Amino acid sequence: MTVSMKAGHPFPEESAIPESMRAAIPLEQRDYLINGEIRTWKGPVQEVFSPVCAARDGALEPVRLGHYPLLTEHEALEALDAAASAYGHGRGAWPMMTVSERIACLEDFLGRMAEQRERTVALLMWEIAKNRADAAKEFDRTLVYIRDTIAAYKDLDRAASRFEIEEGVIAQIRRAPLGVVLCMGPYNYPLNETFTTLIPALLMGNTVIFKPPKLGVLLHRPLLEAFQQAFPPGVVNTVYGDGREVCGPLMASGRVDCLAFIGSSRVAGILKSQHPKPHRLRCVLGLEAKNPAIVLADADLDLAVRECALGALSYNGQRCTALKILFVHRSIVDAFLARLSEAVGALRLGMPWEDGAQLTPLADPDQAPYLESLVRDAIEKGAAVVNAGGGQRAATCLTPAILYPAAPGMRVYAEEQFGPVVPVVAFDDLEEPLRYVVDSPYGQQAAVFGSDPEAVARLLDVLANQVCRVNLNSQCQRGPDTFPFTGRKDSAEGTLSVSDALRVFSIRTLVAAKEGALNKRIINGIVRERHSGFLSTDFIF
Ligand code: G3H
Repeated sequence: MTVSMKAGHPFPEESAIPESMRAAIPLEQRDYLINGEIRTWKGPVQEVFSPVCAARDGALEPVRLGHYPLLTEHEALEALDAAASAYGHGRGAWPMMTVSERIACLEDFLGRMAEQRERTVALLMWEIAKNRADAAKEFDRTLVYIRDTIAAYKDLDRAASRFEIEEGVIAQIRRAPLGVVLCMGPYNYPLNETFTTLIPALLMGNTVIFKPPKLGVLLHRPLLEAFQQAFPPGVVNTVYGDGREVCGPLMASGRVDCLAFIGSSRVAGILKSQHPKPHRLRCVLGLEAKNPAIVLADADLDLAVRECALGALSYNGQRCTALKILFVHRSIVDAFLARLSEAVGALRLGMPWEDGAQLTPLADPDQAPYLESLVRDAIEKGAAVVNAGGGQRAATCLTPAILYPAAPGMRVYAEEQFGPVVPVVAFDDLEEPLRYVVDSPYGQQAAVFGSDPEAVARLLDVLANQVCRVNLNSQCQRGPDTFPFTGRKDSAEGTLSVSDALRVFSIRTLVAAKEGALNKRIINGIVRERHSGFLSTDFIF
């Protein structure tokens, strides 16, 4: 039972924090990037503390990590001016560059970013308590994403490097940029999910203002020089501070053409409503979810338990794709709970840098008390924590709590817990979990566990019209990143994948000409003499 906190708490004495981790902090950031300049902020700053505490004289204190600038509306609007002028209504150097030139800038950035791996991974561990393996994976996955995006962009361009003739009209159809994009990522994947919008937005010729999430800010600092050196001035601009203070004015200006936001539907709704021109604004949103697992009576129990434990608890359940409610057929629910409790009991709770730590402190300091309130509410309404040592809290750490029987009316039945609380519902009739999916405000993914091809197929067909990915005998997840990632209802707007992201940050645009001697001569002249970036049959290798 390594998961329990019988010893009191899992935090280290200050002196036991490894030197490699201490070396990354404190990071007293006053810098921000606007119009190609790294400027120094002289105003107020936001103190940053880790979810990791250190034991000092018997008390637990969050480790101080440094600070970052609390910019104001003024700097946010300067960033907007810089991005808008770099875009230049589509006439700026960046949107007018050839595809090969923009790719060269991205490749330059990729090399510079790779040099910052160690510092960035250490800051990921400090700021959001992601374990070392997952923090390294987040960084490496982002590098692969950038490489794959460049390859997909080449494919897109190659396919568009030709003319079509229909009904006597000659046309070349390409994808053109949208303009100024505001990119905001979530705190659970502050690097990767910010970059899964920022990189394709840039590559398509847009200019970007990017605001890091509320947690996971300092880890972007080592990349400021890379942005500055790899891109022309104004193409990438950063803003730091309170979202209401800096993002509200950006949206209210009406000059943001595209909002790329991964976070809560509540905040997405506020941001969208601040924009005065709703039809000008394009949105790419990745929002919350309450993905269910449905475990049928004939499921392979070992497999189902393994995937459900992984799906509900990797990175402490702080994933939008996490399994957030488990529906298990009543005939197997006791065996399922016993094995799930055993699997959860074997998980190792530790600090992000400790070898094999699977559970770590929760990133958001408000999350553990919130989760405790969900557990209390469920217990008051008839559920129990069925795993030994479950639901114990020390500061930002909470041991996973398996709640059974979870039922309608409990908050945990409906709310997205985003943490290590696992509600289990027993069902007799498949209509019960299906009704749950239909009535849910969310529609991202579901997981189905079963063995009979016919029964599984019937369920898959129904679920495929309710959510956007049905996982068979597998946990829910976003990857591989080449697969589409989206959701229905309040879970998403637009589709992200390596290739889809290039589409959502651009718009199909064509140059068309009625066939005739004059137009043919002009088009031939343009292509032969390479007068145009748009009208071109160049093939990128
Ligand atoms: O928080 C939501 C992420 O998109 C989940 O991604 O399934 O790769 O952990 P993941």
